[in-house]
Amino acid sequence: MAQLNSKIHEVIVTTMADNGEAHSAPMGITEVNGHFVIQPFKPSSTYENLKNHRQCTINFTDDVRVFAGSLTGHRDWPTLPCDKIKGRYLEQALTHIELEIIDFVDGDPRTKFTGKIVNDVTHAPFRGFNRAQSAVIEAAVLTSRLSMLPVEKVQQEIGYLTIAIEKTAGDRELEAWSWLMDKIKAAGIEL
Ligand SMILES: Cc1cc2nc3c(=O)[nH]c(=O)nc-3n(C[C@H](O)[C@H](O)[C@H](O)COP(=O)(O)O)c2cc1C
Repeated sequence: MAQLNSKIHEVIVTTMADNGEAHSAPMGITEVNGHFVIQPFKPSSTYENLKNHRQCTINFTDDVRVFAGSLTGHRDWPTLPCDKIKGRYLEQALTHIELEIIDFVDGDPRTKFTGKIVNDVTHAPFRGFNRAQSAVIEAAVLTSRLSMLPVEKVQQEIGYLTIAIEKTAGDRELEAWSWLMDKIKAAGIEL
């Protein structure tokens, strides 16, 4: 049984649209009694897709460009077909899990889909933590909440996260970081 050891895990959820196209979005998921819980806000494509097609994949990836990309218009990540469900998983996934949705609570604004694991496939090993990857995830969360946060808080947090980027980023993290910084600046926030 796949077990998540922390409270919330930041993953990429890939759902299927009615036209057969895969849609990937970052989501924080939890595990409850061996099942995975996904909580997309309404309105969102992830919500619509899961409501209409009750299958998806959970993708565990260290390519943080996928997280930053979904908030900055870089979304065309390659996917591959699943074995046990009618769905697709991210080519960049270190591990992907195929889920069958078994319960759905249509709350507002947040909904709750509970998925049963039907396949769990590891493609590549986990090579350890990288501080710049964590910094990109944090900056992505900040970027998704720009309209709700005071400008000074965004500037202060980005200032701190920049230390990890400067010390530890590789090409993928630098690219993801630059997309997020462009978006923050485009919102009128000086960095
Ligand atoms: C690390 C991270 C975690 C996120 N977790 C959630 C989540 O649990 N639920 C949610 O609705 N949006 C979450 N978001 C924001 C969505 O990924 C973003 O709004 C996305 O575009 C979803 O909309 P879509 O399904 O229409 O693409 C998260 C974003 C990041 C960067």
